[in-house]
Amino acid sequence: MSTTDPFSAPFGTIFGDAMTVATVEDGVYTYGGAAQPLENFSLHPATHVFHYGSACFEGLKAHKQADGSIAIFRLDDHVERMLISIGKLQMPAPDAELVRTLMVDAVRANLAHTPDNPGSLYIRPTFIGTAPNIGAAASPSATGMLYVITSPVGDYFTGGVRPLTIYIETQNPRSTPQFGSVKSGANYVMALGPTLEAKRDHVADQVLFAPGNDITETGASNFFLCDSERVITRNLDDSFLHGVTRRSVLQIAKDLDLDVEERSVDLEELKAWSEHGEMFLSGTAAVIAPVGAVITQGDRIEVGGGEPGPTTLKLRQHLTDIQTGNSEDIHGWLTVVEP
Ligand SMILES: Cc1ncc(COP(=O)(O)O)c(C=O)c1O
Repeated sequence: MSTTDPFSAPFGTIFGDAMTVATVEDGVYTYGGAAQPLENFSLHPATHVFHYGSACFEGLKAHKQADGSIAIFRLDDHVERMLISIGKLQMPAPDAELVRTLMVDAVRANLAHTPDNPGSLYIRPTFIGTAPNIGAAASPSATGMLYVITSPVGDYFTGGVRPLTIYIETQNPRSTPQFGSVKSGANYVMALGPTLEAKRDHVADQVLFAPGNDITETGASNFFLCDSERVITRNLDDSFLHGVTRRSVLQIAKDLDLDVEERSVDLEELKAWSEHGEMFLSGTAAVIAPVGAVITQGDRIEVGGGEPGPTTLKLRQHLTDIQTGNSEDIHGWLTVVEP
């Protein structure tokens, strides 16, 4: 198997060969105006990001369209969330237009690396604090770097669209409650312990964080209940990431005349739901991934007979049809990147 084939290489391990980079100093951002070859950085060992966690990122995708062009899905929503993350890290905010340009230029320079559907070009904008200053624990980095790399990807979950097994963690939140909506690296490393434990001890694919029985999200996706009439997902607050796919699913559900409920869901409701309803994860990487079983309080409970449910598959189809230009982009979610 070739390691440069996005459908056989693990998700996120191969890269487009161009990147875009802007730097910031004293609040002023500088960008050369063009992509450059993907290359290593040389950073001082005292660099702020290594010590005080001044890092955040985004994750979005460009898809090959039915007409052969390539379009980024919900670019401006991801730009907006990146700006919120940078702001929460107390770093100087770039103009939305600069962040947008860095993403578009990175995709343009890597158009040739965009795999055919169902693959896509995953886009990873990243911000890091670059000041060499180990005395800056209580102050933001005076300098920073905003860069965008890309990765040709196939499926996030090995095995394609298959029902996932989810372990429900009721003791610990995924991250600190006031920082859950920020896409910062620290949140992911905090979720790692419970995730590795669930994989090892329960052969689970993902952990669903439900501190105090309040269902929130998994380590890398939002969570939904659904049936033939409705979709239900947690109402927004700062404790979890406000997924762009989540927002898209809610809109598509409305378009399909399904009822939309954004509210809290507790463990008891989830257990009862498993007897008659469907569950799925939503995220840029996960797309819409059906849940086939949940593990909670020592029990393994099948969801929907262990098979992907019809409403889940219908929502997934509608989402991917829009992303790939196979149905009309009625909400203006696509940004075509011209060569
Ligand atoms: C913790 C977490 N929750 C939810 C999501 C889903 O967000 P989105 O749909 O914007 O990819 C992600 C993925 O980015 C994530 O990392």
